[in-house]
Amino acid sequence: GPAAGSSSGAKAGSGKTITLGFAQVGAESGWRTANTKSVQEAAKKAGITLKFSDAQQKQENQIKAIRTFIQQKVDVIAFSPVVESGWDPVLKEAKDAGIPVILTDRAVDSKDTSLYKTFLGSDFVKEGKSAGEWLTSAYANEQGPVNIVELQGTTGSAPANDRKAGFADVIRADGKFKIVASQSGDFTRAKGKEVMQAFLKSQKDIDVLYAHNDDMALGAIQAIEESGKKPGTDIKVISVDGIKDAFVAMTEGKINVVVECNPLLGDQLMELTKKVAAGESVPPRVETQEGVFPQDKAAAALPSRNY
Ligand code: AHR
Repeated sequence: GPAAGSSSGAKAGSGKTITLGFAQVGAESGWRTANTKSVQEAAKKAGITLKFSDAQQKQENQIKAIRTFIQQKVDVIAFSPVVESGWDPVLKEAKDAGIPVILTDRAVDSKDTSLYKTFLGSDFVKEGKSAGEWLTSAYANEQGPVNIVELQGTTGSAPANDRKAGFADVIRADGKFKIVASQSGDFTRAKGKEVMQAFLKSQKDIDVLYAHNDDMALGAIQAIEESGKKPGTDIKVISVDGIKDAFVAMTEGKINVVVECNPLLGDQLMELTKKVAAGESVPPRVETQEGVFPQDKAAAALPSRNY
């Protein structure tokens, strides 16, 4: 074999360097930017040739990108599906072409699980539950009603569906918690701000904001401040992801708790890519480990945040 270090490229079965086609969701959030960087750096480190495409949050673009990867005969296709539904036809095309598919970050609702090899990512239902558990314990001794507004992620996406469901599941146990308004902010700062402005106009009495990601929470915080209220105090703020900007906002008292969702999936994705390219079996589900950070833990954690 070659001397140690003489060959850095990862080889597919045929002995050539592995080519991975990666169809990313877009660049909608700080989380997504960190995820893209992680995938690009990990591919480089692993000696895997990366073909990268950005779908700008549109499923049709992602389907086109996957079809292009099939035509180019890449060794492995990985993608983070914008929405959960509607993937069976293109996944069948990949399967018929003999190209293994890895789902990263977001799942699909296909009944036929032979259409992909594995799903690497977070448990979004668990994240929603953690958000709900923080709320129920923070308000354990309060009378209620506790009026909640919810900023949902991209409509039809796994993280929006699951974070909504997990949260609702937990708060349902106590009738004092009421979701008085719930709308999509598409996981972006601009939309989060815009929808929060509308909530502040239509709702007299808001106690809590539950945002499905940090970018929407940060946009909403601007809207709350511009309305003359104090985020984190007058309106409690619960968020998901754990980007640095959200930790800064926590240290300023503007966010009360962040449920972590880890975007740094690159190295694990490259490991799985090498295995499926070599025809090895992989576990059908690889779950990301993550924590919950209440405000009083933010200052200590901030310096070690990697995204
Ligand atoms: O799929 C993960 C979600 O997508 C992140 O929580 C959000 O910030 C991103 O846009």
